[in-house]
Amino acid sequence: METIADLVIHNGTVVSADTTYAASIAIKDGVIIAIGNAKTMPSAKETLDANGLHLLPGAIDDHVHFRDPGYPHKEDFASGTLAAAFGGVTTIFDMPNTLPTVDSGEVLAAKLEMAAQKAHVDFGLYAVLGATSIERVPELVDVGAIGFKLYMGNTFGRIPSPSTGEMLEGFEAVAPTGKRISLHAETNSIMERREGKLRAAGYSAALDHLAARPEVVAIEAVARAAILAEWTGARINILHISSAGELRPLREAKARGVDITGETCPHYLMLSSEDYARCSGVIRVNPPVREARNQEPLWAALLDGTIDVIATDHAPHSQEEKTRNDIWTVDAGFLGVEIQMPLMLTEIARGRASICDYVRWSAVNPAKIWGLYPRKGVLQVGADADIAIVDLKRNWTIKDTELHSTSKISPWDGRKVQGLPIHTIVRGRFVVKDRTLQAGTRGWGRSVHSIQNMPKPVPLNVDQTTAAVLQKTFHQASA
Ligand code: DOR
Ligand code: ZN
Repeated sequence: METIADLVIHNGTVVSADTTYAASIAIKDGVIIAIGNAKTMPSAKETLDANGLHLLPGAIDDHVHFRDPGYPHKEDFASGTLAAAFGGVTTIFDMPNTLPTVDSGEVLAAKLEMAAQKAHVDFGLYAVLGATSIERVPELVDVGAIGFKLYMGNTFGRIPSPSTGEMLEGFEAVAPTGKRISLHAETNSIMERREGKLRAAGYSAALDHLAARPEVVAIEAVARAAILAEWTGARINILHISSAGELRPLREAKARGVDITGETCPHYLMLSSEDYARCSGVIRVNPPVREARNQEPLWAALLDGTIDVIATDHAPHSQEEKTRNDIWTVDAGFLGVEIQMPLMLTEIARGRASICDYVRWSAVNPAKIWGLYPRKGVLQVGADADIAIVDLKRNWTIKDTELHSTSKISPWDGRKVQGLPIHTIVRGRFVVKDRTLQAGTRGWGRSVHSIQNMPKPVPLNVDQTTAAVLQKTFHQASA
């Protein structure tokens, strides 16, 4: 019997991590069933003419804060995933600093249910790894955590940062599960001391935020996390790399064979300390936007593979929360999920890197490091039809008020960009078509934990974990 596709996209240019090529794509039941010459495509219920447009694997933003449940005035799962869809992002991973903190199977189960009802794009949910959740690691994995988030330093939500001893135990608990731990790698004890002294001395300007969190805060944290990962065999991912200095411990750990990956965000590549005067507290983010001298090394690290992933740390807050006079009371973070692709494509258009590089950082690598490849992150037969159909020539200006997040304030307002996602397809279904939200897509998004396939776990030094040592003592004591 003749196969009839649900959708065939003609005349577009398909982008992979290696090349770009003219091809048609046929989709059935949410999956790509053919890529090739238009003449070889099956007949279809619907066709799209993508003449002049590029077909990219939808971006996987593995670092967003959609604030649900807990802070609906900042964002919720519907507005956040809507913003994602308008930005060509087809999968997001949401962080656990919502209310209540995602630290038990019960809280995670409720959040999974809520997200499934509201999501316009696919998603994964993080669980927190802290002193109180170490014992619940197996339960959190069973319920469906995509991975773990560990806060080495305090940030929004003030989730207590574990001591090094607690971190080691947490890594020991996660290593045998094979899941990856994403780290907010800023050492709390350094920055709390600094901030305390700066505050006591009366400093409260935007740039004082940077003074409280110098590069060494992050460098020391990355190095320490890498040592604990190397010892336990836990897989780790360094979030929001902001400085050149973090690259050395990251490179060295990779060279030693540690399963460590790295992420940076557009604001560390494109904004600098020179933007604080213009943006004031709006630019406050943890880790801070740093001196311009860090930008070139971060780009070079992306290009040589030291940094694997571009994500956004999308962290919306309200206008009032972002514009307080005293920098220490301004909520840290700003939106990003909807504009990552245009911001990055603008740099690609300027010749910073190739569009294939971009697809590697935004889709292929995140899919690989989270065990979703090749189901996600690539346009090939058998993959989910998650596609950002992009006009690379479109020049436009970012206006915060026109973005789809609930929060409408960012340091990007007024920035000229080149490149705009015109259509976004999630598992074969248009969520955005011709820049218009399609009806009935709320609740279309699914948790990707059930298709996650991490490589076999490789826990190390298992005879020396806290659990093993306790066991040994028990045997000796009772012998
Ligand atoms: O600036 C930040 N804001 N950094 C983080 O790590 C958390 C985030 C938030 O949730 O607001
Ligand atoms: Zn974050």
